[in-house]
Amino acid sequence: MNVFASRIIQWQRCHGRHSLPWQATRDPYRIWLSEIMLQQTQVGTVIPYYARFVARFPDLGALAAADEDQVLALWSGLGYYSRARNLHAAARTIVDEHAGIFPDTAETIAGLPGIGRSTAAAIAALAFGRACAILDGNVKRVLARHAGISGWPGERKVELALWQLAAARLPQSGVEVYTQGMMDLGALVCTRGAPACARCPVGDDCVARIERRVDELPTPRPRKALPEKEVQMLLLVDGGRLLLEKRPPKGIWGGLWSLPELAVQADADRHCRDHFGFRTISLRALPRLSHTFTHFKLHIQPVHLDVRPEGHGRPEPVWLPFSAALAAALPAPVRKLVLQLQAA
Ligand code: ADE
Repeated sequence: MNVFASRIIQWQRCHGRHSLPWQATRDPYRIWLSEIMLQQTQVGTVIPYYARFVARFPDLGALAAADEDQVLALWSGLGYYSRARNLHAAARTIVDEHAGIFPDTAETIAGLPGIGRSTAAAIAALAFGRACAILDGNVKRVLARHAGISGWPGERKVELALWQLAAARLPQSGVEVYTQGMMDLGALVCTRGAPACARCPVGDDCVARIERRVDELPTPRPRKALPEKEVQMLLLVDGGRLLLEKRPPKGIWGGLWSLPELAVQADADRHCRDHFGFRTISLRALPRLSHTFTHFKLHIQPVHLDVRPEGHGRPEPVWLPFSAALAAALPAPVRKLVLQLQAA
């Protein structure tokens, strides 16, 4: 076995993580779920979501049989909701096209909705012991530093070099421990901000450490300023109930329940009357809040309107008591606004 891999494996056994909830199993369903939740979200945030999810959907069949709304409600607050929609779609694909049995090769796993090459390899390695290389953000950082590979890893040729390296370092046996070890090293030692090189099992031949380039590697993404958008969000309240709208399936927050949105310049009172057929009793602008997505920053101007429905609005609105609204699949900033409303 190569020296790098054997050091990673030894280090994982002594210093890696062993009690994460998804490590107690080789059930590919649970490992898959954890890998999807962990894609853009930190371990500490994922743990309670993972626990609620497996309690509600203990296996693939239960997830495939669920309504998308129930799945999204359990994802509410985790963000990147296409992950939940793809998870649900993939569960149905496995039931329909693979007789309900989780495929056991990285190639077949990678054909499922929402599963990229690295995630497929992680599932194949951790659940089935297959010798497949992973290359998530943590592993890119470890390899770029250790081999002194510069260039932004989002660039095709840099990514290819890292994939080749990841495959070359793979051990023939113990791939489960090695894979977890690479993830653990990236999360615990070879961190982005303050790497603990003194505790690193592969520090003595790390190019970045030897050449004092640890701070420079991996090369960051060339920075472009994020575009900014601004909207009004209407908290339309009638007594103790709040009006929610289901967002279209595609795009930001697809399929989630949210608040009516309006251009910032638009007249909220008039919109209520013309669009919904409501009479406004009172109107109050609330403090602005911002939410950053991968590709843009959204500034939200919430407006609280006490309204009375008069006649029939178009379309027929969905009114929910505050507590029921909070149980729905809400985007994180909308949840925050509803909690404020409930507390007011
Ligand atoms: N990040 C991605 N996969 C992980 C795992 N299996 N354990 C901890 N962190 C992870």
